[in-house]
Amino acid sequence: MAHAGHDWDAMYTAAEAPPWDIGEVQPALAAYLAHASIADPVLDAGCGTGELALLLAERGRRVLGFDFSEPAIAAARAKAQERGLALDLQVADAAQVRNLAIRPRTVLDSGLLHSLDEVAAAAYVGGLAAICEPGALVCVLAMSAEAGQGWGQTEASLRMRFAEPDWVSSAVDGIQISARWQGEDLSMPGFLLTTHRA
Ligand SMILES: C[S@@+](CC[C@H](N)C(=O)[O-])C[C@H]1O[C@@H](n2cnc3c(N)ncnc32)[C@H](O)[C@@H]1O
Repeated sequence: MAHAGHDWDAMYTAAEAPPWDIGEVQPALAAYLAHASIADPVLDAGCGTGELALLLAERGRRVLGFDFSEPAIAAARAKAQERGLALDLQVADAAQVRNLAIRPRTVLDSGLLHSLDEVAAAAYVGGLAAICEPGALVCVLAMSAEAGQGWGQTEASLRMRFAEPDWVSSAVDGIQISARWQGEDLSMPGFLLTTHRA
C-alpha cells in the first residue's frame, strides 16, 4: 500500500526524524498558502506529524488531518495539545478516504500521493472526487520522478490523475521540496498541482 521500501511507523519512531519531517510546512506550499483562498473544512491528507494541519488550525481553519501511521498521528496530537490547538487528527488509509466523515472544500496533500502505489493512488484520488464539495480546491505537493530513486510523479502523470470531467482548472508548477537528513539540508525537484472539483 505504501511506497515500496518505506516502513512509515519505523521511520517515525527512529532516533532521527524522517527526512521530510522538517518541523515546518514545505516552503513551496507555505508560499502558495500565503495567497490562496482556503475554505473550510480542510482535509490534510497524509498529515504526518501535523505541521501543515496545525498551521491551518492556528489560522482558525477547521481541519481534519489523517495519516496511516499511528506514531505520526500520536506526535501530531501531542503538538496540538502543546500548542493549545483544536483539530481532528485520525489514523486512516488514503485508499479509504471516501469513508471519512468530511465533505472538504480544501484538500492539502504534502507528499502523500507520491508515496502511494498505483492501486492506492487510484482509490485515493477517486475517493477525493467522491467526497469533495463542488468547487473544492485540491493542492498536491509531489516529488518529481527527476529526483531519481525510481519513483515520483511527472507533470503528465499528475494532470492525468486529476483530469476532466472530475477536475477542472488544473495547474502544475515546478517547485523544490525540502528535506533534512543526517544534519544536511536537501532540496529536491517536485511539483505543486492545484485543481478544483468540478
Ligand atoms: C512524505 S510523508 C509526508 C508527511 C507530511 N505530509 C509532511 O509533509 O511532513 C508521506 C506520509 O504519508 C503517509 N502515508 C503513506 N501511505 C499512506 C496511506 N495509504 N494512507 C495514509 N497515509 C499514508 C505516511 O505515513 C507519511 O506520513
